[in-house]
Amino acid sequence: MSLIKLIKKLPKTELHLHIEGSLEPSLMWALASKHGVSLPFDSVEAIEAAYQFEDLQSFLDLYYQGADVLRDEDDFYQLMMAYLTRCYEDNVVHAEIMFDPQTHTSRGVGFDVFMPAFQRAMDEAKQKWGMSVYLIMSFLRHLPEKDAIETLTQARAYYPMIKAVGLDSSELGNPPEKFVKVFAAARALGFKCVAHAGEEGPPEYIWQALDLLRVDRIDHGVRSIEDETLMKRLKDEGIPLTVCPQSNIKLCVFDHMKEHNILELLDDDLCVTVNADDPSYFGGYLNDNYRALMTHLAMDEIQLVKLVKNSFIASFLPPEEKNSWLRKIDLLVAGQ
Ligand code: ADE
Ligand code: ZN
Repeated sequence: MSLIKLIKKLPKTELHLHIEGSLEPSLMWALASKHGVSLPFDSVEAIEAAYQFEDLQSFLDLYYQGADVLRDEDDFYQLMMAYLTRCYEDNVVHAEIMFDPQTHTSRGVGFDVFMPAFQRAMDEAKQKWGMSVYLIMSFLRHLPEKDAIETLTQARAYYPMIKAVGLDSSELGNPPEKFVKVFAAARALGFKCVAHAGEEGPPEYIWQALDLLRVDRIDHGVRSIEDETLMKRLKDEGIPLTVCPQSNIKLCVFDHMKEHNILELLDDDLCVTVNADDPSYFGGYLNDNYRALMTHLAMDEIQLVKLVKNSFIASFLPPEEKNSWLRKIDLLVAGQ
């Protein structure tokens, strides 16, 4: 089987995906007109044309502006359903999806609007396609820790729907140490923990995420490569990195896909995974990211299978489910 076909055929998980970042320009346009929200664009094409970024912040400015069209329960249901449909098409059988409550609560759109909408779409995807979905509630790191603590409290009625907490938004100047208390509280409540670190920020932020926030996974983490001791720690402890190749190119973390270090990290035996981050803004969903590694980095079949297996190993699925998917992958690869 060709590598392209194998990418499509293999069951996969996606572990680093911001649901607000899957808002396609066409849906943004439709919701803006539904709610009478004025956008600084005069067509869907003009929205698409604006997706040129020089760094993380230039993207975040547009991303928060775009999220303003999400107002009622049906908007959030459409958003989640559109992404889960893409998962089905890409053979993503399990997804761990981040959402940013503060992006919505700050506009007067509360948990009672978006959580039931997410649940409805997740139930439908489970029933139609057998897909499993976990939610990761992410705190915005450019805001004070007390706001994150308030968000954790506001979410109380929905704790059973949430698997983990995360940390995203503007990394530089907002180190993990700013959020020690809220992560300790989340851990005490039984949540798994993840944090964006080492996307634009230095290896020191990854150390802090590990030592101070005690995270189970690092989101991005591509700058680990600058610190040999850190690489050894990640490898020895099997701490996964959820890497997002196309995101890193769009946000100029690397100048070109040919320079991306994901396969070096993989060949160094780190538990690296492939993810789309904000697919609507970065021009590709999960399989597009795998295909980019094939085209520009000459990823081979062994590396592909390792990356896909890592996506299950790094997930928060129960061990029996992980093992069952790993066995299915071995059978599929052996029988192709
Ligand atoms: N929020 C959405 N996408 C993000 C990214 N790539 N880094 C930090 N915060 C984000
Ligand atoms: Zn991200």
